Amino acid sequence: MSKKDSILVTGGAGFIGSNFVLTWIKEIGSPVINLDSLTYAGNRNNLQSLNDDSRHIFVHGDIADEALVARLLSEHKPTAIVHFAAESHVDRSIVGPDAFIKTNVFGTFSLLQSARAYYAGLNAEPQKAFRFLHVSTDEVYGSLAPDDPAFSETTPYAPNSPYAASKASSDHLVRAYFHTYGLPVLTTNCSNNYGFYQFPEKLIPLMILNSLEGKPLPVYGDGQNVRDWLFVEDHCSAIRAVLDRGRLGETYNIGGSSERKNIDVVTTICDLLDELAPSEKIGSRRKLISYVKDRPGHDRRYAIDARKIKQELGWEPAAQFESGIRKTVEWYLANQDWVENVRSGAYQQWIETNYAERVAR
Ligand code: NAD
Ligand code: DAU
Repeated sequence: MSKKDSILVTGGAGFIGSNFVLTWIKEIGSPVINLDSLTYAGNRNNLQSLNDDSRHIFVHGDIADEALVARLLSEHKPTAIVHFAAESHVDRSIVGPDAFIKTNVFGTFSLLQSARAYYAGLNAEPQKAFRFLHVSTDEVYGSLAPDDPAFSETTPYAPNSPYAASKASSDHLVRAYFHTYGLPVLTTNCSNNYGFYQFPEKLIPLMILNSLEGKPLPVYGDGQNVRDWLFVEDHCSAIRAVLDRGRLGETYNIGGSSERKNIDVVTTICDLLDELAPSEKIGSRRKLISYVKDRPGHDRRYAIDARKIKQELGWEPAAQFESGIRKTVEWYLANQDWVENVRSGAYQQWIETNYAERVAR
């Protein structure tokens, strides 16, 4: 990829998308057209440091707006589309699945149609270079028992939440566009991310902010569910590796080799807050832990077998969970303005919807 080759990123104002845009500009330095509809999860403040950087072009719009996407493609002639835009929170998909079908299934379909038309109109050389990279999740594989082998690229799909089903559906569409129309696609299936700019509806930022304020820490079920945590900048470097060297039509699993039980993640956060923001009034944060009603259909365990991306592309995560989570807690403590800004009325409304009925057990 040369310094001139632009890319179209969708969902680049969200958590992973904004980290991707920031690290892309730093590491690669070529222009990014960032298409984002700014749902509750999209936040332009994440990209404030690029306000005066002409390499970042922000476009407020929907991936399903075919006229807009066609215009952006013909105007900027990107060499790749990196597709992050999605509804991403499992609990929200349980409360209201409609938006997940609309964006994750129909939105991805629409974007594929736009990409296909654009690709068909390119000359041989730009056609050869073009990539459509679809960012997906390990949740499409379902749930593992404690001793099951980790998810590999050949694990059968078995999604259990409306979110996971909508992502599985989009993965199938992407695959079909490769086999049927020859669109040069790549798909990544990644484990749980954590890091800077994550919206505080997800486990780690929610627990950091509640701990800071001495609020209850709502742990679903028995707290023994396991996730494989990856620092978000490592996810971004994996995506760059797949874009650069991935084999067309292939899928790559991305993980942190950092399986942790939820309760262990939460106690780690409690201890870090006690150390970095001690409060006599709150005392030990572990006392704030409150076991609450479980998530329906709650997947027990996720784990990623990341041997393929390591062997084929030489990618490995750089961060360890312990140092990554410390950096993340420090970031939230140092960025209170960002926190105040995202905790708008819409956020409070979600907290009320999701936790009001989950009384402590
Ligand atoms: P996020 O919810 O933080 O951000 C999603 C972004 O997409 C937001 O900026 C939102 O405004 C935008 N968006 C939503 N609908 C849109 C539409 N119709 N048109 C244009 N923009 C739209 O999500 P995230 O956690 O950053 O996840 C990004 C992608 O990575 C998703 O596809 C998700 O499935 C996948 N993923 C996430 C994780 C994780 O741990 N967060 C792990 C693996 C894969
Ligand atoms: O595995 C990748 C997926 O990781 C991504 O595809 C999703 O977009 C992302 O949201 C994430 O899904 P999870 O459901 O695993 O993440 P979440 O942070 O919502 O929850 C992590 C675990 O913590 C899960 O077992 C549920 C539990 N949990 C979550 C919340 C919000 C709690 O115990 N209490 C909570 O309040």
